[in-house]
Amino acid sequence: MLRSVITGIGHYVPPRVVTNQDLEKRINTTDEWIRQRSGIVTRHHVEPGVNTSDLAVEAARRAVADAGIDASTIDFIVAATLSPDHYFPGIGVLVQAKLGLGTIGALDVRNQCSGFIYALGAADQFIRAGTYRRVLLVAAEVQSSNLDYSDEGRDMAVLFGDGAGAVILEPNDSDDGRGVLSTHLFSDGRFASRLWMEKPCPGDNPTFQKEFFDQGKFFPRMDGRHVFVNASERMPEAVRIGLAANGLDVGDIDALIPHQANDRISQMVAKGLKLPEEKVVRNIDRFGNTTAASIPIALDEAIKEGRIRRGQLVVLTAFGSGYTWASALIRW
Ligand code: ACO
Repeated sequence: MLRSVITGIGHYVPPRVVTNQDLEKRINTTDEWIRQRSGIVTRHHVEPGVNTSDLAVEAARRAVADAGIDASTIDFIVAATLSPDHYFPGIGVLVQAKLGLGTIGALDVRNQCSGFIYALGAADQFIRAGTYRRVLLVAAEVQSSNLDYSDEGRDMAVLFGDGAGAVILEPNDSDDGRGVLSTHLFSDGRFASRLWMEKPCPGDNPTFQKEFFDQGKFFPRMDGRHVFVNASERMPEAVRIGLAANGLDVGDIDALIPHQANDRISQMVAKGLKLPEEKVVRNIDRFGNTTAASIPIALDEAIKEGRIRRGQLVVLTAFGSGYTWASALIRW
């Protein structure tokens, strides 16, 4: 069976580092609270004027360079974000135009923290089907410009960071067994309002009302405990389903890359799987939660640090707004 393989990877974060101490000046919070509850020490925030597609393009350029290809040979784009530059269109077409990629198709994926794995699932199917042979998969977020720094939103405002990650996906024409083994995608929309940005909502006429601004309805909100419990259960479950589908078990995992939601959640995922913590890639301390971008950023770091080597089993898992959750198994 034809498999897709990651032939290039890159990430980009904006240069401005924001420490917990910086946040203490703006938010009713403490470094100690943030570290204890999330494990986050620093995150990166964009300067005004920098958009999600700008970060996406930087990450994409790095993935293209890593693959050693000419960008003009990319034949499809899949872009994942919850923070598109505009209400519409999505960022896929903006990335396409900024990279000068002619008229190739660009698909936007709106699955929030699970966005990268959903996008990987879609891109993998296009490659397996023989529809495309060189897909740019990019995930990017600018969260910092729409966080509620008041007491009501401080649980989320301390968590999020800006950043982007990208991979190039191509068919593996050899029989060395490398590539994406499978992806497993799940959702439960009954819990949409537990982690969401309620407005803008076209059911309101007019959609943008000052009253909604005054009520903070244009900010992301979450039911932290509900998210915590569900994320801690659903990610291990998705990993087990993926392993079983491939006749593998937890002992076969060389590296697990969970969505970097919160370090306590990543620890719960390791515990839930009975996986030694040293096999779990965690970099949330330096980047915060970068939503769709967190997995490709962590994957890129782990590869460049030599933590992931050819032939190893790499497992990705994510959970987020929707709720959506997912896993992917890759023979590196
Ligand atoms: N600084 C200081 N205090 C804060 C902050 C903050 N940034 N945010 C909230 N608090 C306060 C609350 O107002 C509350 O105060 P109160 O007791 O006076 O009402 C108190 O801290 C709650 O603290 P805890 O008792 O520790 O509450 P809990 O155990 O529910 O923890 C938390 C809250 C940390 C949000 C937890 O539910 C959690 O980790 N949830 C997971 C959320 C998460 O990581 N989401 C990631 C984003 S979504 C995704 O990527 C999947």
